Amino acid sequence: CGIVGVLGRHEAAPILVEALKRLEYRGYDSAGIATVNDGDLDRRRAVGKLINLQDLLVHDPLAGKSGIGHTRWATHGQPNVNNAHPHKTQRVAVVHNGIIENFRDLREELAKQGVGYETDTDTETVALLTQSYLDEGLDPHDAATRTIARLEGAYALCFLFEGEEDLMIAARKGSPLAVGHGDGEMFVGSDAIALAPMTDKITYLAEGDIAYITRDSLKIIDGEGRIANREMRVIQIDTTSVDKGGHKHFMAKEIAEQPSVLANSLGYYIKDGQVELPDGGIDFASIDRLTMVACGTAFYACLTAKYWFEQIARMPVEIDVASEFRYREPPISKGTAALFVSQSGETADTLAALRYCEGKADKILSVVNVPESSIARESDLALPILAGAEIGVASTKAFTCQLTVLAILAVKAAQDRGHMDAAQAAEALEKIKSVPALMNQALSLGERTNDVSKLLAEARDILFLGRGPMYALAHEGALKLKEISYIHAEAYASGELKHGPIALVDKHVPVIVMAPRDALFDKTISNMQEVMARGGKVLLITDKQGAKEAGDGVWETILMPEVDPFVAPILYAIPAQLIAYHTAVAKGTDVDQPRNLAKSVTVE
Ligand code: G6P
Repeated sequence: CGIVGVLGRHEAAPILVEALKRLEYRGYDSAGIATVNDGDLDRRRAVGKLINLQDLLVHDPLAGKSGIGHTRWATHGQPNVNNAHPHKTQRVAVVHNGIIENFRDLREELAKQGVGYETDTDTETVALLTQSYLDEGLDPHDAATRTIARLEGAYALCFLFEGEEDLMIAARKGSPLAVGHGDGEMFVGSDAIALAPMTDKITYLAEGDIAYITRDSLKIIDGEGRIANREMRVIQIDTTSVDKGGHKHFMAKEIAEQPSVLANSLGYYIKDGQVELPDGGIDFASIDRLTMVACGTAFYACLTAKYWFEQIARMPVEIDVASEFRYREPPISKGTAALFVSQSGETADTLAALRYCEGKADKILSVVNVPESSIARESDLALPILAGAEIGVASTKAFTCQLTVLAILAVKAAQDRGHMDAAQAAEALEKIKSVPALMNQALSLGERTNDVSKLLAEARDILFLGRGPMYALAHEGALKLKEISYIHAEAYASGELKHGPIALVDKHVPVIVMAPRDALFDKTISNMQEVMARGGKVLLITDKQGAKEAGDGVWETILMPEVDPFVAPILYAIPAQLIAYHTAVAKGTDVDQPRNLAKSVTVE
């Protein structure tokens, strides 16, 4: 899931390991590096955390100033040493993100030439194919180029060759890759964060690019075989954002910084009580319907926003998870705006869904955290959420910033479509602006959620209930909890519970009810009573008045500040996140890097 490469002036191994550490946040289950030293290509690989690779390197060091490294999130083949990257033959080593879809065909072709394979991975085939071209007499440049031309699927690749201490070849199709420029040194990284300590001068490769890199040159050939001039940018990476800032986990830090990052988004989009969008914005008066597509947490931001756009802007909204949307062959009628939400801006399915809409939708919008990302670059209008680098695998501040930008956009749509006048829009924006201060109050519930979470940590299953936009938030609460505490959690629309899931309720299943005092409060409370009547233990999240109205018999209550129902989903994300966090801490799981998960999923 993470790639680094270095043609350096110093020993490569420690630089590679440090750079891989900066990619740890993406999630991985094995790691490895390869170097060329005196012409010889060698590698070290280890399963599990990077510390295992570091230990191995202490006992069995790897010399050389040129090297490549990788953290792997298993796709083909188990996370064992044999399947870990770099994959290597005698003459070439390769690291790869993505999936080579035609690797079985290539493997069969090689088998006919008597080439055997040793791993279950698609990546090994890339190394074997390159070696076969080298054996035919091609030089590394041509062998890699010819190999890349044979590959189908998605990839970011970096090649290192025996006997070549001043050459790396990198290729990008579907998975992001950046080249870093140093002083007499060159680097490759799957993102700029990996390269931050070494350089801030970055050239992003475009789709289909192949980069031929030496210490003092970079030649890029595009997908059509032409020389490409890609801009070198100086990237600003706030190094404090990749530091835990005194917190025990990145997730805790990212939860805590929500009031301030949210304030950034508000300042960026709201000027003099009106919405201001960058780059000419969008006029929703000319749009008839909105299609929103995303994965994971970003999808739940879309689910919440659907309620907003429908209710306040009277805009028909369709939403889907990207992996379904892209293969559904959905008809996109004229007048549709397609909106893609993605923290990383690189999620493979979301990007593919965006490309499906190209040429069909009137306008392609995206709401992203990484402004240089593929999704941002391929949109007509990219709206940054300004959350800063999010390192914890479980998304927190990106989610509330996504919600904030989407709420602002819904107000703009309501105004453009004549359902709000300027004064009403200003009033709605004031409600959104009240959120950071309320979040500060909600964050002081840390202690209380900690106590409750100790009880929740005992559970095997937990249900989350909500109605309206709080139904969307119930989903996000359940997702957060399963991601990091590994407790099975499900979300249901409160009113749907009686149509089946209520059969699951007994005294062992905590039911978390998200109930701000909105128009549906009474109905939610009735559904809660149905749970309690069947022996279910309810954790009610509401405000003081709500708790009073809900009456007796509730197992535990978390008291929230009073909030306007319009923005309640943004505020109520805080207890949902705190519950997941404290429950995971109580269970002793790896909060920032939960098992099996990756931060940025660049495979479909
Ligand atoms: C992964 C992450 C989730 C994230 C989802 C979508 O599954 O673990 O936290 O919500 O991808 O990622 P994106 O970068 O597109 O928002």
